[in-house]
Amino acid sequence: MKRLFPLFCMVALLLTACNEKLAEANYDVIPAPKEVMLGEDDAFVLTPNVTVYYEAGNTDLQRNAEFLSSYVKDLLGFSLQVQEQNQDVDNGIVLSTSPDAFDETEAYQIDITNRQIVVLGSDAAGVFYGIQTLRKSLPIGETGKVALPCVTIKDYPRFHYRGMHLDPSRHFFTLDSVKQYVDMMAMHNMNRFHFHITDDQGWRVEIKKYPELCEVGAFRDNTVIGHNSNLYDTIRHGGFYTQDELRDLVQYAADRYITIIPEIDLPGHMQAALATYPDLGCTGGPYKVWNRWGVSDDVLCPGNEDAMVFLEDVLNEVMDIFPSDIIHMGGDECPKVRWKDCPKCQAKIKELGIKADERFTAEDYLQSYVMDRMEKVIEARGRRVIGWDEILEGKVADNAIVMSWRGIEGGIEAAQKGHDVIMVPTSYLYFDYYQSEDIANEPLGIGGYVPVERVYSFNPVPEELNAEEQQHIIGVQANIWTEYIATFNHVMYMALPRAAALAEVQWCNQEQRNYDAFLNRMNHMAQLYDLYHYNYAKHIFHPELLLDTIAPTLATHKPITLRQDPPSEQYAAQGASTLNNGILGKGAYNSDRWLGFRGYPIDAVIDLENATEISHVNFNANVNKGSWIYNPKSATVMVSDDGENFRNVAHDEYPISTWEDKDGIFHYSLDFDPVSARYVEVVIESFDLPADHEAYGEPAWLFVDEIEVK
Ligand code: ACM
Ligand code: ZN
Repeated sequence: MKRLFPLFCMVALLLTACNEKLAEANYDVIPAPKEVMLGEDDAFVLTPNVTVYYEAGNTDLQRNAEFLSSYVKDLLGFSLQVQEQNQDVDNGIVLSTSPDAFDETEAYQIDITNRQIVVLGSDAAGVFYGIQTLRKSLPIGETGKVALPCVTIKDYPRFHYRGMHLDPSRHFFTLDSVKQYVDMMAMHNMNRFHFHITDDQGWRVEIKKYPELCEVGAFRDNTVIGHNSNLYDTIRHGGFYTQDELRDLVQYAADRYITIIPEIDLPGHMQAALATYPDLGCTGGPYKVWNRWGVSDDVLCPGNEDAMVFLEDVLNEVMDIFPSDIIHMGGDECPKVRWKDCPKCQAKIKELGIKADERFTAEDYLQSYVMDRMEKVIEARGRRVIGWDEILEGKVADNAIVMSWRGIEGGIEAAQKGHDVIMVPTSYLYFDYYQSEDIANEPLGIGGYVPVERVYSFNPVPEELNAEEQQHIIGVQANIWTEYIATFNHVMYMALPRAAALAEVQWCNQEQRNYDAFLNRMNHMAQLYDLYHYNYAKHIFHPELLLDTIAPTLATHKPITLRQDPPSEQYAAQGASTLNNGILGKGAYNSDRWLGFRGYPIDAVIDLENATEISHVNFNANVNKGSWIYNPKSATVMVSDDGENFRNVAHDEYPISTWEDKDGIFHYSLDFDPVSARYVEVVIESFDLPADHEAYGEPAWLFVDEIEVK
């Protein structure tokens, strides 16, 4: 090697003489590698003359080499030759594997000298991730040569299950779009694609034994507008994937080291199947492919053997298509109301000798019977089952993997019982939640608030677990449900850049994580998104958009009490002080900025601490009619000098919001003649739900924030 130095020094000198400043690669990529050790030597110069060599006869590495060449073409405008390696390489990129050189799978080491780039993997997947790191290191749009500083990078993932989920059932996305989603996942070093292909609103997988599923179940006549308003569009919506298309997709993903985990959500979320085969339900229907959102009470009838055989047949065909070692059988959100009234279900409960106990109902155990039967079908094919955390409600097989979505508690319980767990808690990893609080300027989301920083802060391994239990947390995933996401462009907006934060949660060790450093790394990642025309949310690049404090008013941070009942426990935020903490309620009602009340007025008393002249009271209400949240009915302002005797100074009444009115955040302002007072009482009354609402006559929710007094 030493012998070669003079030659390369000459090259370097020549380059300097031509005054050529090469654009440089930068190894600050997402997800951040475990170790990056920059060397002192000259950089490797990447030019169109560089060849990528792969281990002779290794078709996986050949494909990887072709990926690398195509990435270089995307980034720099020229592709690289790809060739089997038959001799020592000079001025080339060498891809090879050596399982014995690594303790981990999916691991890689990159060594860059001025002569060559070696990407050594524990396996072909490891080499692929090394290539992703190289790809993300390269500058974009340089058409000439690029310098890759001399370096050794050692890397492997924290979790071997690194997932993203997509729901093409609520809204259908084309095969090409789904492939683009797979590409996006590959760029983030993810390896498990959870594909939710059946639900109440659409059946998306061709099943040869039941061809009507894709004739009837794959299409709905119309769709509710917004958050379950009572208004409907007039557009027939649907689509499905043929088995050939799905096999093509499986291969496309496998080429990128991504396993597709199909989900047949059972025995609930089955209304599209029931619309096709009404006899499989408890009541016999008629049913329609659902055109609303939520959880349908109409589920499969376990008392009907045909329904069980249907599920078994479907799972068998699905396993023919998807070679995944894990098969998802859903199990979430299965109401039991039909089963309670169904003679067939009750007879089945009797026949099986099922008894309720102090923890679960007989119908809960009837669901366990369904899950158990389907698990046997899956295991008979040498696969493993995974289900949503509801499968813990009743009996669950020891080796079932639990997907903890309603928080991390299900995951903790499962790990303590010895189940493997994938963490997907809504409050960190549901990418159908809003990522900005300014929802008036966001495309529609389901609600909630999961900004990039929140995703980044997630530690998937709860401290409550002991070392052995912690081993059961085998992976992390984010979910994109698409009730409110009708276009693939919108899917990508919800996915990115949160997927980048997730990628570091999945790949990097906890102590390696640093949000500010991540934000720096995001700048280059965003350029990659631009290059590939990936739509992404830009809030993190505009922190001023996150500004959320009000100019303090007379009420800000003053003692405040709620005279009547406290807010609902579920929507209590930081208690009464949420109303005057100077932080403005923005975004979704179920973020911690809003207090939610139901069935009684808000009655807040603020102590201004001194007699003060006032003439305005303002507050905001968050309206979301599909979630039973309406605007206030009236607001009253009273004042007092002693905190006991109050006098009325202002009162306003408001018309009830109709389905034609927009949901969102509304500002209310009460002005009155200036008065001097120490105590201000604000009473805000709520409506009952109107006649055109599904829950007519029930009390509406009222969500209020920041009371300002001026
Ligand atoms: C789920 O979000 N229903 C699993
Ligand atoms: Zn039944």
